[in-house]
Parts: sequence; C-alpha cells; structure tokens
Amino acid sequence: MKKDIHFLSIKKSQREKIVSLTAYDYMTARLEEESGVDFILVGDSMAMAVFGEENTLGSDIDVMIAHTRAVSKGAPNTIVVGDMPFGSYEKSDSLAVKNAARFVSEGGADAVKLEGGDSRSVSRVKAIIDSGIPVMGHVGLLPQSIAETGGYRVVYSSKRAELFEDALALEEAGVFSMVLEGIEEELARELTLELKVPAIGIGAGRYTDGQILVVNDLLGLSGGFNPKFVKKYVRLDGIILEALKAFSREVRNGEFPAENNVYHAREGK
Ligand code: KIV
Repeated sequence: MKKDIHFLSIKKSQREKIVSLTAYDYMTARLEEESGVDFILVGDSMAMAVFGEENTLGSDIDVMIAHTRAVSKGAPNTIVVGDMPFGSYEKSDSLAVKNAARFVSEGGADAVKLEGGDSRSVSRVKAIIDSGIPVMGHVGLLPQSIAETGGYRVVYSSKRAELFEDALALEEAGVFSMVLEGIEEELARELTLELKVPAIGIGAGRYTDGQILVVNDLLGLSGGFNPKFVKKYVRLDGIILEALKAFSREVRNGEFPAENNVYHAREGK
C-alpha cells in the first residue's frame, strides 16, 4: 500500500533513518521501489545525469514532467517528489502553483521540491501548499544558484545564521521535509535537531534524519565524478561497457545471433 508523506515524519519521530534516491526513468523507479526506498526524487540533476549538461540550470519543465510520469508509473507505491526546475517558479506565486500542479496532474507526483529559503522561495512554497500540494524544501548548497554563489560551495558555520533562518522560515511556511545539501556535518546535525520536519542529507554528514543520493552516482554511472560524499556501491559503467563490447565482438565474428536466437519456418506455414 502506498505510504503518504506523513510517514516520513513518523520515521523521524521514531529515529528511523529515511532512505531516498533520485530516479529519472520507469525501470530504475521499479527497482528502487522493490529495494524499499522511502521516497524517490525526480531531481533536476537529470539535466546532468541523463542529458549530459554541465549543471542543472538547463532543465526543462516539460521534460521533467514526462520523466516524473515514468517514475510514478514505475513506483506506484512509493512517494514521488518532482523537483521544480530553474525558471519554473521564481517569477511569481501563480507560475509556481501552475507548474507544481502539472507535476501532480501530469507527472503523477505526490509532492514537489524547490530550492532556497529566502523570502521569494518562502512565498512560492506557501502558495503551492495553499493550493493543496505538499512541498519539500532544500537548503545549503543550492545548485540552481551557482551563478550567485560562484560555484558548488559547501556551507560552513560562517553561514550558520542565514542557513538556520532559511530552514526555519521554510518549516514555518509548512514544508513536510527538507533536503540539506553540502553542509558541514556539525552544522547539519544541529539543524536536524532544531527542525521538526525530517531533514534529508546529501553531502551533509551522518546525523541527518535520512540520506539521498543521485542514483547514477551510487551505481557508478557518472564517469569521473567522484566527490567525497558519494559512495559508489557498484561500477555499472564497467559492467555495461563489457556487455556492449561483447555484443559488438559477437556480431562481428558471427556468434550472435546463434541458433537459439532465430525463428525458423513453422511446420505448415
Ligand atoms: O536534483 C537533485 O538530484 C537534488 C538532490 C541533490 C537532492 O536536488
């Protein structure tokens, strides 16, 4: 049976770690559901992981929604969160509500996530929640703001006041959970204890209420991308490469297709 977003708060209150991954397609979502993840994020990291972009800024709302639909189909019993891409919510509350609703009605998402806890983001979060759609917040390192921050910068205690102010404003606005990205472990621990909603870390140390990773990273499908916070549980790139090479070799030397791969005329036809 499908769990709803309150299940994540229950996990926090019972001090059970929350497990989450990104997914961008039907098959991966199916496997993630089978593995028992607590929620799936259709992250705008898709721009890099699937489309080979240098950053997440080129994510397109129509493409994000199409992939969210595929993930929702693959994981019908898992909470699916659609990540609102750059340009889909900044301009106005009404644009944010319209695009959040598309994630739910067209993409089949249960909730949306958007980055930042400044007054503009908080206003968008409130408007979306008022329209009946649950929102996940995202503080710390904000990939959609790299132009402003000058790159992917881990947040250390010199930014404590701003970080806490943003996170608490998002909680006050009603987010059901929050991603803590790229934050010094001690700071993320303190913030997790301060927040009533579940804090899901990525590059934020060991003490958040849960962890999320980009699925391509943990599967070893992100090439030379090797930051400290990622653990590669398998090197699928090598395994896939071997299979592709074997196919080429067998086609070229006539081993494939073999007798058991071909159709023969049926008797009487
Ligand atoms: O887009 C994404 O994958 C994310 C995670 C890093 C949380 O926002």
